[in-house]
Amino acid sequence: MTDAPASEPDIRKGLVGVVADVTAVSKVMPETNSLTYRGYAVQDLAEECSFEEVAYLLWNGELPNAAQLSAFRREEASQRSITPALLEVIRRFPRDAHPMDAIRTAVSFMGMEDPEVADVSEPATRRKAMRLLAKIPTAIAAAHRIGKGMEPIAPDASLAFGENFFHLVFGKVPQPEVVKAFDVSLILYAEHSFNASTFTARTVASTGADLHGAITAGIAALKGPLHGGANEAVMHMLTEIGDPSRAVEWLQSRFDHKALVMGFGHRVYKNGDSRVPTMTKYAEKMAEVVGDRRWMEMSRLLAAEMRAKKRIEPNLDFPAGPAYHLMGFDIPLFTPIFVASRITGWAAHVIEQAADNRLIRPLSHYVGEAQRPVPPMSARG
Ligand code: COA
Repeated sequence: MTDAPASEPDIRKGLVGVVADVTAVSKVMPETNSLTYRGYAVQDLAEECSFEEVAYLLWNGELPNAAQLSAFRREEASQRSITPALLEVIRRFPRDAHPMDAIRTAVSFMGMEDPEVADVSEPATRRKAMRLLAKIPTAIAAAHRIGKGMEPIAPDASLAFGENFFHLVFGKVPQPEVVKAFDVSLILYAEHSFNASTFTARTVASTGADLHGAITAGIAALKGPLHGGANEAVMHMLTEIGDPSRAVEWLQSRFDHKALVMGFGHRVYKNGDSRVPTMTKYAEKMAEVVGDRRWMEMSRLLAAEMRAKKRIEPNLDFPAGPAYHLMGFDIPLFTPIFVASRITGWAAHVIEQAADNRLIRPLSHYVGEAQRPVPPMSARG
């Protein structure tokens, strides 16, 4: 017996167009290519604020005043150390482990060490979110340095969040223009409504599981090349092209093979990603500071050709990839940097989900075998 067509469920593959819940954290407006965090345009936040101010905004709904900001900074800076036990675990990671796998495992381990891991009350979740924000850069940089045969560097509580990240990775803080460009990237990466990793984190939180579990799952989702992993893929692509003179010909070969071009397209924005102009401006600044125009020139040619031939616009990962390369970061660190930022958005969503929770549990439409008896072993082919 088959179902009448009228009873066929309306399946939205990839949940395209499905509004799964309300949120007050951020608003994506594809019709105007714009994005606000708690009502503030992301490009204004990027120009006017530090990453710490934006983290405070996402977690508290309002921008901090001077006293609130300095208390927030002090708290974050005081929590940056990781335990000798975690450092020992990191030393035992396979040398060629991907840094996203390393930070996913480190966050999971931090959960087992956290004295409040099982407390899913809002105050405890906020305290745990602060600890994760503070410790994630330390763990990312330790895994990176150990993987390259170098000793990890202890965090410096006198440095701002972005400065400390450079200190942890390189042992020094670059000039202010570079730190500002990095901070801008963190602000732009901090939050983006119900993207795959945030929805994953909310799904985990909806079961009543703890913050560390939700963030571990979020990191696993972010690693994929269709999501956060695209910023690394963009730089691999630019490296493969090698020179602006080859960009158009290279792109044509992708078209001929009907292959994806990383850093282009978006599930929600179809006419351009709100964050791209700001990130491109700062990536251009990095090209000036470093004195290497090659990557941005290649990017400009690729974007123009994609627009002309496919009408597909770049997403944030497209300018972020070369920007991080120009800042001196190795490619496998690009998506972990995204984690160091997105922990703010993930935690804001976990808090919001828990405050008005309903278990996330969609349905599926079964298309497998009709019900049948289990055959005896002798009757199986
Ligand atoms: N390169 C080439 N073609 C692309 C493309 C890209 N980056 N992104 C979309 N397209 C094409 C699709 O092949 C599809 O063509 P078709 O209609 O002929 O089949 C059309 O544009 C619509 O795309 P679709 O796959 O339906 O969009 P989606 O909403 O399912 O996917 C992404 C969105 C982000 C997964 C997709 O654009 C992508 O894979 N981009 C590359 C990875 C990336 O940069 N991810 C970071 C996202 S922030």
